[in-house]
Amino acid sequence: MTLKNHHETPGRSLLMMIFGGTGDLTHRKLLPAMYHLIAEGRLPEECSVISIGRRDLTEAEYREQARASVKEHSRSGVDEQHMERFLSKLHYKRMEFISDPGSYAEFREWLEKNESLYKAPAVRLFFLAVAPEFFGLIVQRLRQNQLIVKRNPDHRVMIEKPFGSDLASARELNATITEALDEKQVYRIDHYLGKEMIRNILAIRFGNSIFEPLWNHHYIDNIQITSAETLGVEGRGAYYEQSGILKDMLQNHLLQILALITMEPPADLMPESIRDEKVKALRALRRYEPVGVCAGIAMGQYGPGTSLGKPVPGYRVEPDVAPDSTVPTYIALRASVDNFRWGGVPIYIRAGKRLDRRRTQIVIEFKRLPGVNYYQEFREQPPNLLVIEVQPAEGMYFQINAKKPGNEFRMNQVELNYSQNIRFQGNVPEAYEQLILEAFRANSSLFTRWDELEQSWQFVESVEQMCAEGGQAFPNYAAGSRGPARADRLLHEEGREWREIDLPESARNH
Ligand code: BG6
Repeated sequence: MTLKNHHETPGRSLLMMIFGGTGDLTHRKLLPAMYHLIAEGRLPEECSVISIGRRDLTEAEYREQARASVKEHSRSGVDEQHMERFLSKLHYKRMEFISDPGSYAEFREWLEKNESLYKAPAVRLFFLAVAPEFFGLIVQRLRQNQLIVKRNPDHRVMIEKPFGSDLASARELNATITEALDEKQVYRIDHYLGKEMIRNILAIRFGNSIFEPLWNHHYIDNIQITSAETLGVEGRGAYYEQSGILKDMLQNHLLQILALITMEPPADLMPESIRDEKVKALRALRRYEPVGVCAGIAMGQYGPGTSLGKPVPGYRVEPDVAPDSTVPTYIALRASVDNFRWGGVPIYIRAGKRLDRRRTQIVIEFKRLPGVNYYQEFREQPPNLLVIEVQPAEGMYFQINAKKPGNEFRMNQVELNYSQNIRFQGNVPEAYEQLILEAFRANSSLFTRWDELEQSWQFVESVEQMCAEGGQAFPNYAAGSRGPARADRLLHEEGREWREIDLPESARNH
């Protein structure tokens, strides 16, 4: 059963243009994604991928590089026949797209010639996989050279993060972009929205009758969103010094998860209806007061330690990082969505680099029953938990209390468990595949609308302002550890604890 597509692009061919065609993102994610989409027949036969880069490469050389990258990064290995078909649709255009404004007119001529070879009218999908400072410039030039025409729904631009480096620069970038394009033509990427289990959140919430009646402050004690990574900054020190965990993870991925978990049911499944509800939730997200004291927030930065059995350096000695950097690589905070549904329910969020595990997980902790019956006799019973496991395993489980088998009447906890990548192992499309496909289908529900971003930036700035005076001595956690102790205290002070949910045995092997 498939979702009725409110947003097909029927009878169209596709011209996918990648600015930054020789970059890391293109090789690691975009080319493999295009390979799979083409191999699986999910795109029209009339489809070209045009990588645009500044390097002097012949098409043949570029194709060989692409072959190697797809082989290395494909999610399920490659098939030679499909590979040849993919490569035949792949082109390389050398273009000085920053230093030479004239190169766009030339490119347009080339593109129009190729476009006219297709029978079906083409969707022009531009993917900006370049440094963020060039987003505005490229969009302007595309518009000036009629490579994109404002309000033409077949001309679309996908923009990578970060969208701005603060609220003011995000507004400025948005002004430039909306001068050239209608909001409907802009696809701002948050790759978390393409992840299988993130896409599943609304299906779980609104596709079952059992959750919605309980999904509020009457029954839910708290919500925990965790994103733990074992990786450090991986050679991206210069970027990370500007962004830190707040802008790298919180402003986008984590607040998007929060919005999906807390939003009201949309009137229908149209992209704008979903985004309207998300933005309302983000608007209700309480901003922090600019008191200069970092209350209710724990920040951290990793020092040297051992990660996955190997000694690793601390953040301050990573390349391009200042030796006295105060940029946080970890954050834990208590957020509140101040509306009728969520008033009084803490939403704890934590994320960090170089932790002891890689895991993205959402835990909904239900309220305990008052001390009667089973709760009186078995006081130590844990609360019911609904766990949505985003990665590395994908699935969900519901933790309940039940009688332990045997003569003695004892209670224990059991999990009703659904592990998705066991059932569909190897077939889970990567986020970028989904995102490219949905952009081709003009389904913008998997992309962030400007007003969502604006709300997220406001929240993040309120965190920054509140914590402006710092006060937390860095580094304060060892690489490979659970993170700073302060993150645990944050919950202990409120009589709660982080739920460290280990996967059931069956899911752990994957
Ligand atoms: C990116 C961040 O947006 O998300 C990275 O810039 C981070 O720093 C990454 O590692 C995490 O994504 P994933 O898909 O590995 O959870």
